[in-house]
Amino acid sequence: MLESGLSVGFNVTLILKTNPYSPDIEVLRKAAQILLSGGLVAFPTETVYGLGAVAFYENAARRIFQAKERPPDNPLIVHIAELDMLEDVAVNIPEDAYKLIRVFWPGPLTLILPKHPRVPPVVSGGLNTVAVRMPAHPVALGLIRETGYPIAAPSANLAGRPSPISAEHVIRDLYGRVDAIIDAGETLYGVESTIVNILAKPPVLLRPGAYPVEQIEAVLGVKLEIPAFARGFGEAPVALAPGTKYRHYAPETPVILVEPVSGLENMVNRVKLIAEELLKDHKKVCIAASRETMKEYLELANKGVVVIDMGSRSNLFEVARRLFKVLRSFDDISCDVSIVEGFEEKGLGLTIMNRLRKASTSKVLA
Ligand code: TXA
Ligand code: MG
Repeated sequence: MLESGLSVGFNVTLILKTNPYSPDIEVLRKAAQILLSGGLVAFPTETVYGLGAVAFYENAARRIFQAKERPPDNPLIVHIAELDMLEDVAVNIPEDAYKLIRVFWPGPLTLILPKHPRVPPVVSGGLNTVAVRMPAHPVALGLIRETGYPIAAPSANLAGRPSPISAEHVIRDLYGRVDAIIDAGETLYGVESTIVNILAKPPVLLRPGAYPVEQIEAVLGVKLEIPAFARGFGEAPVALAPGTKYRHYAPETPVILVEPVSGLENMVNRVKLIAEELLKDHKKVCIAASRETMKEYLELANKGVVVIDMGSRSNLFEVARRLFKVLRSFDDISCDVSIVEGFEEKGLGLTIMNRLRKASTSKVLA
């Protein structure tokens, strides 16, 4: 297949606006044309915005790494729009994969499968496996169909920064580094897909994501192995899951994560103590708190602390959806230090804690 080499270092990025539910066909055509000529297009998925290139174009895939300043051993996810495309990117697909596919695709589940030789090694970070998902977003699906090829796409942020859930986030990180950005408003889940290595026995959760791990276990009928790095601790041997080898999801503002290990009251008291100490040092302090505990920080708010609403503990979907916006907001309001409340590691709580631990500069157990 012909791949023309668009030059790197251009500085005009086309912004293409469309309705998310019924994508403008002209927008999809234009974006597909850019991809087919070897270009990079950022586009919305139901999780976060992705930075796409045709998955079979080696040079285009390489440009993704340059644009994001992403380390080359951190592989990309290949996005498909039809099951027919799966066999173009993966081989020897196990029956357990189909069990999950039947229930969760299209949707925020990424499966690790044996790589088809047609997928260039640059896409898989040199691994002989490939990460694949079928996104549930009309713009993403429309773009893949219009292009006619699977699209390789990591999240459309600069490496290490919080993933983008709006075109504005993408513009801030990647304007001038990519050929086009499709703007279709905010994404639905606000956190990335759940990544499962279905080839391992038992299957391994590589990254908790928008589908809670419990839902996946219920369909497979087995417990997944959940390594420490999937909970947000430590490093994976290779860059097998995002944020395991490199600091990730991080705003520039230092983040102190206060994890509730002995009840919310203790956690709140610890947050208050830390904030008081920082105020003594004349720091501009932000506290990201759940709706249930926000009112506890009223007195601190009167002393100039900015209190940010993370959403309710009884609606973790909402907390996950706001998470990256909250993390980016610390930089927007120029906090010197942010203090963030932790959540219980159940359901989406595991996903939220993974992201918060990765984003934090220090963790406190309270
Ligand atoms: O929701 C999402 O997953 C978004 C949207 C755009 O689809 N994508 C995304 O990609 O968040 P990102 O930036 O997390 O990068 C893909 C991650 C890599 O960091 C890597 O850990 C994992 O997927 N991955 C890719 N290929 C892999 C493989 N062969 N083995 C293990 N992990 C892999
Ligand atoms: Mg990413």
